[in-house]
Amino acid sequence: MTKTQIINFFSDFVKIQSVSTDENRFSEIEKAVSFLKDFLLSLGFSVKILEKEKAPPLILATLIKDEKAKTIGIYGHYDVQPEDPVSEWETAPFLLTQKKGKFFGRGVADDKGHIVQNLFAIKHLIEEKKLKNNIVFILEGEEEVGSVHFEDYVKEAKDVLSKIDVFYLIDTGMHQKNVPQIFYGLRGIIYFELTVKIGQRDLHSGVYGNRVYNPINVLADLIAKTKDIKTGKILMPKFYEKVRKIEKEELLLLKKTLKSDEEEKKEAGVFGLTEIEGFSSLSSKIFPSFDCHGIISGFIGDGQKTVIPKEAKVKFSFRLVEYQDPKEIEAQVFDFVEKNLPKEVRWELKCLSKSAPFYTDVKNEWVKKTAKILKDVFGNEVVFNRSGGSIPAAEILQRLYKKPIILTGFTLPDDNIHAPNENFDSEMFFLGVEALERIYSF
Ligand code: BES
Ligand code: MN
Ligand code: MN
Repeated sequence: MTKTQIINFFSDFVKIQSVSTDENRFSEIEKAVSFLKDFLLSLGFSVKILEKEKAPPLILATLIKDEKAKTIGIYGHYDVQPEDPVSEWETAPFLLTQKKGKFFGRGVADDKGHIVQNLFAIKHLIEEKKLKNNIVFILEGEEEVGSVHFEDYVKEAKDVLSKIDVFYLIDTGMHQKNVPQIFYGLRGIIYFELTVKIGQRDLHSGVYGNRVYNPINVLADLIAKTKDIKTGKILMPKFYEKVRKIEKEELLLLKKTLKSDEEEKKEAGVFGLTEIEGFSSLSSKIFPSFDCHGIISGFIGDGQKTVIPKEAKVKFSFRLVEYQDPKEIEAQVFDFVEKNLPKEVRWELKCLSKSAPFYTDVKNEWVKKTAKILKDVFGNEVVFNRSGGSIPAAEILQRLYKKPIILTGFTLPDDNIHAPNENFDSEMFFLGVEALERIYSF
């Protein structure tokens, strides 16, 4: 097994435009499935493809070495985020490019690169006859759209998954270059799309301004009522009711992960930062949040046009923390929208996906062994951290199978996931393969 072999495989994988949110590219999702299936078969795995109508399939691949050995589950997702805005990319998004010691391309960091690392770590162990454990790959194709069918899929696969002793979810990043990181918490997320319609057609703003509602103004008003951007607090009644107060012990642990404002400003490429109750960089991990992701309405061409559009649409989500319940939050949001929109407009609110927050115990032997190997390979102690991001699979696997879950990964803070110029440092990539080989062979 050579680096060239790995890179060629990686390059073929990145070429497949498996953007799960784009219905028109469903055939690319199917391509990714057969691409991975063929490779897993070549390694000697038995491969099951679980399917549901219109949903990306779940790949379940099993390699039993010894019924009495430990069984390791390895999770990754083969779907990626859309590549927009394409003009901001310095390289073609679906062409794996090596530049400045990094791999560039959509999905290289999130999460195709990690899948490649895992596959080749296992391939190498098989070739060297060092694989003693049983391995189960769980490769998902709808993570980036909220893992809507994941729970049903993994319930169907109970016969295989209930035999797993530990789950490795390789879909996060390192604290810094050469500083490995294990996450013990993730935020949940609930995602909505709201359309507000004022009538049948667009209107002249001079003739009708003051006499009709403007749907953009209506949405802006609702958004402003949802969150106070000065305090960062969400204003929806009862929203914080179930939020767990953070304990001193955890706070002490998290203080070790703090980054300076300067560092974070540089990392995010922003002119300034916000925070909640003075918690600086912990604000995005320990508190829930509310963000709009897109507003579609009206005239957005060059120049000016004085129109009151007939409708406007906004996409928004809430990130959730323990012990907020996505179902309860969903009901609160419907109630809040109903109470706060003018009676004279028509509206439709759709919840596109929801997933619960994840929090786990890291005081177990699996974590200890993993942390030791990561330290040996990268030369620095592991940082234990919480992330503001979400991976629905983590909470689902923990709740259903009650086994240790280890969340780690090898990308760097400037990996640009979900953004143009997504990248994976190649040194960390290959060291990561080495670390995974050692982790899966203990
Ligand atoms: N791998 C990320 C989540 C992540 C990013 C965890 C950084 C830790 C650090 C995952 O692919 C992701 O982006 N999840 C989505 C889920 C959503 C679309 C339901 C997210 O967090 O926005
Ligand atoms: Mn991911
Ligand atoms: Mn992602």
